[in-house]
Amino acid sequence: MINSFDFVLPTKIRYGTGMVRVLGEELRLLQAQKVMVITDKGLVQTGLVNKITDLIKSEGLSVIIYDEIEANPKDYNVELAAEAAREQAIDTIVAFGGGSPIDAAKAVVVLTKQGGRVRDYQGKGKIKEDCIPLITIPTTAGTGSEVTFSSVITDTADKFKFTIKSPAIAAKVAIIDPELTLTVPPLVTAATGIDALTHAIEGYTANCTEPIAEAVGLYAVEYIQGNIVEAVKNGTNIEARDKMMMGSLLAGLSFSHADVASVHCMAEALGSMYDAPHGLCNAILLPYVMEFNLPAAEYKYARVARAMGIDEKDDCTAARKGIEYIKSLSQEIGLPGIKSLNINKEDFIILAEMSVKNGSNDSNPRNITKADYAELFNNAYNDSLMS
Ligand SMILES: [Fe+2]
Repeated sequence: MINSFDFVLPTKIRYGTGMVRVLGEELRLLQAQKVMVITDKGLVQTGLVNKITDLIKSEGLSVIIYDEIEANPKDYNVELAAEAAREQAIDTIVAFGGGSPIDAAKAVVVLTKQGGRVRDYQGKGKIKEDCIPLITIPTTAGTGSEVTFSSVITDTADKFKFTIKSPAIAAKVAIIDPELTLTVPPLVTAATGIDALTHAIEGYTANCTEPIAEAVGLYAVEYIQGNIVEAVKNGTNIEARDKMMMGSLLAGLSFSHADVASVHCMAEALGSMYDAPHGLCNAILLPYVMEFNLPAAEYKYARVARAMGIDEKDDCTAARKGIEYIKSLSQEIGLPGIKSLNINKEDFIILAEMSVKNGSNDSNPRNITKADYAELFNNAYNDSLMS
């Protein structure tokens, strides 16, 4: 029997090359008057943010840019942005960027209306009232944040990433335009692409998954696997960018309706302690967690391997080949190993403690302890010494 489940998707998805042109139309439908664009300084420098503000101004709306969002968005980024939104009487937010501005914006829409500190909303079901409307426009193919119900924020006092999870923070509209990713540099394309692959695999295999999340997760693996190398090596190939964007979207739908699992528990610990790129942390850890999970997830990992093009009938052999392939894929697309983070081995116990406390720990397909996490950090580290 299939377990009972709900599938809620409060976000209207508008997908296609050049789709960003519909921003004005969607703002009109939301009856926006005063818009804040939440983004980061890097995107302002590319000139892409001007394209967004021009589209908003052409509707006769007033717009301000908030570009102070940092990587691994911090609690104070969210609280300062919400304060600015309240002072300026902002009624609608447009999140433009990778996962950091979009995750930050999903917390800003709560605080702007409901006040308080961002950590007050940690976990599930803490948001009782409506939030101000949000439109998400991703500029990377990886995070899936444009369609997820979660926002991952760094508590800077505790150096701990926490998650706010509620359909109430989901975007009203996600405008997904692969053309916006054409200028993303190769290393960012690689890291965000492996983040999406991790969402797909974890969404497909999480304990709490259901058939819709499984289906889109597995299909996402096909899109990502077939296009990640080309998107990294030939970034102007719109077809590869298009399919990576779709893979990222499907993977986002998968994990937001299921969950992520131990790769993200470990990656979020690493990211919060070393302020390291989220996608890179996932890439470093994904094959080691899969090796650990293999006894509990052999059949599903075999299907993942086959979705990646591995033609092997025996499940155990297929799953093992899939894990080896993922290790070689990270190298092929130029992602460095764990050593690149200048990690201190003595931190492994603290990182393991943080991982086991992560809200997604129970979603891992195999029961995993603090000692297991410490061993997995060690495995990734020792392997990198040999490479
Ligand atoms: Fe992620």
